[in-house]
Parts: sequence; C-alpha cells; structure tokens
Amino acid sequence: MEEAKPYLVLPRRLRRMREVLAHRQKDLILFMDRVKNEHNFSALIRTAEAVGLQEIWYGFDEPYPVPLNEGVTLGAHRWIFLHRAENPVETLRAFRQRGFQVVVTWLGAGSRDFREVDYTRPTVLVVGNEVEGVSPEILPLATHRIKIPMVGMVRSLNVSVATGVILYEAFRQREAAGLYDQPQLSPAEMEAIIRRWAYEDVLRRKQKPPA
Ligand SMILES: C[S@@+](CC[C@H](N)C(=O)[O-])C[C@H]1O[C@@H](n2cnc3c(N)ncnc32)[C@H](O)[C@@H]1O
Repeated sequence: MEEAKPYLVLPRRLRRMREVLAHRQKDLILFMDRVKNEHNFSALIRTAEAVGLQEIWYGFDEPYPVPLNEGVTLGAHRWIFLHRAENPVETLRAFRQRGFQVVVTWLGAGSRDFREVDYTRPTVLVVGNEVEGVSPEILPLATHRIKIPMVGMVRSLNVSVATGVILYEAFRQREAAGLYDQPQLSPAEMEAIIRRWAYEDVLRRKQKPPA
C-alpha cells in the first residue's frame, strides 16, 4: 500500500493548490531591476502571482532587506519563488541561453509598442527602478525594448501599474493560445511544489518562534 503523504493542509486546500499549479506559466518570468519602494515591490509580486507566474527574479543593490510588505502581497509571496540575482546581467544572459526572450521596458528611443511582442514565447519581462528605470547594462541583453504608449503630460507610469498592464497582455495572449488550458509544469515539478507548500512551509511556520 502506498504510504500517505504527510500533507499538513486540508484536502480542500490541497485541491486548490493543484488547481493553481495547473495554470502556472513556468516560462513567463518577471525580473525586477532595483525596485525599491515597498508598495511597488509587493504589488508586483501580487500581480505576477495572479497572472500565474511561478518565478520572480530581482536585482537589489541596497544593504537592507528587500522591502516586502505582507499587507500588500496578501500572502502572494508565499506562492511564488522569489530569487535574488547577485549579478543581473549574468542571470539574464543565462535566460537567453536557455531560449528565453528578454523583454525590457525602456522609455527611451527605439522601443516598440508592448502589444507587438509575442508573449506566448518563453519570456523574461524586465521592469526598472522607480527613478532610474532599467539599468543601461541590461539593455544589450534585450531581445525587445518595449513601452506602453502614453499621451498625457506625465512621461512614465508607476512601475507596478506598468507591469500589470504588460502582464495582463501576456495573460490575454497566452489564454488565447491555450497555454492556461494544459499544465505547463510536469507532474514531478507540481509534486515538488505541493510538498513545499503543503508540508515544508506549513511546518516552518508552525516552528517559527513567536515574535
Ligand atoms: C517610473 S518608471 C522609471 C522612469 C525612468 N525615468 C525611465 O526613464 O525609465 C519605472 C519603471 O516603470 C515601468 N514603466 C513606467 N512607464 C512605462 C511605460 N510607459 N512603458 C513601459 N514601462 C513603463 C518601467 O519598467 C520603468 O523602468
């Protein structure tokens, strides 16, 4: 007889986890380049998780911890893998070598309308710092430079708003292409994540000493 898995969540919760994982888009990645505002950093995580991303990378050049606000993420950070890129250029180069297109938001000349890009391809979307935008060292790695058209007096959008607009265009295209209809994660990948969510993370939270 198969040994029961020691999941520490109710069956209903487990079902929900499996449903969510069936829609995960493992080849759609968000890269946050030095996003420093706590609200932005956290809102980006929440939106990415809502669209079905499983992985976020970020570059962060400050000595203090990343500005994550659980009141803004509403727990989304628990359901998505957050990786810090010690060397953003190398991280993005590695993604390109794996066949990902690197789509960089860039407000300068030479950017195309964000709706012209095919987001059904394996994609890393790069968004930038609130003041400086995306670092110029990242630009040579861009497969596409994109911008959201604007016709007002203000020259840029808030980063979390801009990211939401682009990710929902990616969602729209991927949904139309049927990429949410079939699981993108393999059964083994799904089980590994379920084990983490429904066992390891629960255990870690239970063992955490009260603050
Ligand atoms: C406030 S903007 C940075 C402005 C900065 N002066 C620049 O030129 O990039 C912060 C980030 O929001 C995103 N963003 C803002 N407006 C955008 C737009 N119209 N199109 C695409 N991305 C945008 C980009 O990721 C940008 O790096």
